[in-house]
Amino acid sequence: MQNRFRKLRSSKAIRELVREVRLSKDGLVQPFFLVEGKGQKQPIPSMPGIYRYSADLIVPAVERFVKAGGKSGLFFGITDKKDARASGSYDPSGVVQRGIRAIKKHFPEFVVVTDVCLCAYTDHGHCGIIHNKKIDNDKSLPVLARMAVSHAEAGADIVAPSDMMDFRVGAIREGLEKNGFHDTILLSYAVKYASSFYGPFREAAHSAPGFGDRKTYQMDFANLRESLKEASQDVAEGADIVMVKPALAYLDIVREVKNQFNVPIAAYNVSGEFAMVKAAAERGWIDEKRIVLESVTSMIRAGCDLVITYHAKDIARWIQE
Ligand code: PBG
Repeated sequence: MQNRFRKLRSSKAIRELVREVRLSKDGLVQPFFLVEGKGQKQPIPSMPGIYRYSADLIVPAVERFVKAGGKSGLFFGITDKKDARASGSYDPSGVVQRGIRAIKKHFPEFVVVTDVCLCAYTDHGHCGIIHNKKIDNDKSLPVLARMAVSHAEAGADIVAPSDMMDFRVGAIREGLEKNGFHDTILLSYAVKYASSFYGPFREAAHSAPGFGDRKTYQMDFANLRESLKEASQDVAEGADIVMVKPALAYLDIVREVKNQFNVPIAAYNVSGEFAMVKAAAERGWIDEKRIVLESVTSMIRAGCDLVITYHAKDIARWIQE
């Protein structure tokens, strides 16, 4: 006799009883953008509901997320203080460093993750230092390490390098150790593809490259096996958590990385993925809540232990309802 599989779908309670993946707000990370100045809450046109906040207004923004059940945020800095050396990136009174101090003062338990990358601080908008007209891998490493250490000094729990220079995980780990930050967690954007899904973010962060593209450092989206090389080296250099980015078009990569490595796996549901959902929902073409819950469930089913998503606050609220 064959079985009747519909038995296990026959009521909501039974479906919930046998569900394989259960959504929890514990693994959700909400990205936040920090800007200079005071009293700033700037909307981002292609990312409805997401704002750039100055250090004074970031605290109420985080508070709203915490009230919805949120426990962790990923912080990006946006500044017009840009130069060839990316010196704003490691400034102890820089835009991110001040923001983190304010958050940690009010919410010491809130898990602060910081994006470590030079693109918002270089005058050319690339993620590394330029030397002889090239993005110079090894000249970028000490700057990235210094930036990560300055985030740890300001109170970051987790530093997350997204630049895609080789050996930056090792350089950052060494910088943290040398400066006494033995407990700072390193979340590596190990598997980061050169993707068109980052468009709205670059508008938000004023971080688009002034010339060329990021294809000499971010990965070719046609490659899966390359993701295993990247993840393997980052784990060997001391990454505690590895990330795959973007998320939805890359769930095969998430699954493969999950199968091969025994560290927690994160995925970044990026700005372009968010903008597409928002745009279609605004037109009434899709049901936003259902689309988002289905998408984030599929990310977890694919193997994500944590998901970074601009929908985090909404998802947390929907779960609580
Ligand atoms: C910085 C960085 C980017 C994103 C996260 N960190 C942009 C890029 O690589 O160009 C993208 C995030 C998003 O699209 O939501 N390098």
